[in-house]
Amino acid sequence: MSLTLAPLPFALNALAPHMSQETLEIHHGKHHKAYVDKLNTLTPGTRYEGKSLEAIVKMSFDAGDHVVFNNAAQVFNHDFFWNSLKPAGGGEPTGSLRTALDEKFGSFDAFKAAFKEAALGQFGSGWAWLCYNIDGLTITKTSNAETPLLVNSRLLMTCDVWEHAYYVDYRNRRADFVDVFLNHLVNWDFAQANYDAATAHFKAVLEKQEATQAALEQDVA
Ligand SMILES: [Fe+2]
Repeated sequence: MSLTLAPLPFALNALAPHMSQETLEIHHGKHHKAYVDKLNTLTPGTRYEGKSLEAIVKMSFDAGDHVVFNNAAQVFNHDFFWNSLKPAGGGEPTGSLRTALDEKFGSFDAFKAAFKEAALGQFGSGWAWLCYNIDGLTITKTSNAETPLLVNSRLLMTCDVWEHAYYVDYRNRRADFVDVFLNHLVNWDFAQANYDAATAHFKAVLEKQEATQAALEQDVA
């Protein structure tokens, strides 16, 4: 079964003036769609057929199938990016994620500065991410289609810093786009839900490790 382009989780004009309808028509309707269409030409009759998108991303990376990986990961990353945005987004998160951000980075402003530094520090095309892994909250950047999914990080939210994400609205001013992303677009509800799932996941992993260790120690005794 072929993959279909997931619809945007908001109307084409819902993010204006921060992200214009023209940007969304090109970014979602042309760039994102092109990755979906290309992937659908690559997977029929292969071992990727019938696999989940996430599985195709990991399998193709491990196998060194660069063309499949680039298109599959870009479909995955864009799906995640659209959900990282919302109309009247931005502002400051509340709840447990806010507490964790303050603890990790010292303050919310310090978090924003670190995220912006990662987004601007990505040379060429790529992505800036807020993730959660065994070390807690982390900010990371990836090049081209690469994704922290490959290192078993749990993803909380992302900002697309390919030029096609901002060139229509901000020309070459990536810094202005990242400021707008943080102040007016980022979907903290989505990030909080992902944070809840990530912390529950790592808590379960830790409990399982502790139970295994306790059982081993009992066997030795
Ligand atoms: Fe993009």
